Amino acid sequence: MPAFRTDLGGVPVYRPGKPIDEVSRELGIEEIVKLASNEWPAAPFPEVQDALTAATRDLNRYPENSVFHLVNALADYLNIPGDNLWMGAGSTELILCTAIAVGGHGTSVVFADPSFVMYPIAAALAGSEPIAVPSTAGLGHDLDAMLAAIRPDTSLVFVCNPNNPTGTWLAADDVASFIAAVPDHALVVVDEAYCEFVTSEDYDTAIALALARDNVVVARTFSKVFGLAGLRVGYMVGQPETLAQLRKAQVPFSVNSMAQVGALTALEYPDRLAERIRGNDTARSLLEAGLAKLGLDYIPSQTNFVLIRPDGDAPQLGERLLQAGVIVRPMGPFIRVTVGTQDENQVLLDALAAALG
Ligand SMILES: Cc1ncc(COP(=O)(O)O)c(C=O)c1O
Repeated sequence: MPAFRTDLGGVPVYRPGKPIDEVSRELGIEEIVKLASNEWPAAPFPEVQDALTAATRDLNRYPENSVFHLVNALADYLNIPGDNLWMGAGSTELILCTAIAVGGHGTSVVFADPSFVMYPIAAALAGSEPIAVPSTAGLGHDLDAMLAAIRPDTSLVFVCNPNNPTGTWLAADDVASFIAAVPDHALVVVDEAYCEFVTSEDYDTAIALALARDNVVVARTFSKVFGLAGLRVGYMVGQPETLAQLRKAQVPFSVNSMAQVGALTALEYPDRLAERIRGNDTARSLLEAGLAKLGLDYIPSQTNFVLIRPDGDAPQLGERLLQAGVIVRPMGPFIRVTVGTQDENQVLLDALAAALG
């Protein structure tokens, strides 16, 4: 056997939601509803599909490493200078590169529990010690406890706002006070993968904080409301000097040419994004109402998913839903369900009603 790194033994394994094809093959059912990975339920805009088809002609060439056109369009979209942007193969890649760039043995990484499963994985891969801070009773980040958990060797802190998998969110003032109290030696990543879905008035993006401070970056993605999860494209916003250091951990050409073209084209349709956000809001309210009607306890969400706390055995309920052709994400005592189309949500509610008897 080769001499593998012994410290990787404890790295948690990332378990993605089951793909539709796999479940269809296993169960011999054609109609599968996947509500497990917080993806957008509809196909990319037709113009995005056309642009991608046209872009296949250039696949013999390496992509543009600077991601020039997408960076410029995104800078306009966000109303910030392009120098404040760093693009990656999904925000997952940027999270990992960040952990590697600031981590290593003798450092630690603070994050909430439960939160995005990539944080402990990235910490462990970077050789840092993961410090998981239990959430409040309402399953939100316990910012006071997170501050108290920061040590002199803490190089990275993740704040997931709104949080996956709970759907909870932090008010802008609370994020700002937290960041002001974090010592300069720790980099704060505010992960805003689901920010577009939030309608609560006390919420705001932390982009202004990332522009103002060299120890704050904001992570975002094209995988959720933009509906381009399969292309793998995400970004971070921060000060140019900070991003230059983090970029050192990234492989060249990681944002492929199709991803660059797809995201660039999607940015041309902000009105349709606004429509998607309104649609998600309505569908989530109906889904939450349906869950309440079934007597299920759930955490009120500001995202495109809802965390259910069933009375009984959550893994067993997840398995029953799977047998009915509905893929959800069991997580310990919880089940996380993505907001789908209204039809998909109805299939889920019917399957839940049947499974709960
Ligand atoms: C909180 C959070 N951050 C980041 C990501 C990563 O998104 P991607 O790598 O697709 O950009 C996800 C994906 O589910 C997420 O839930």
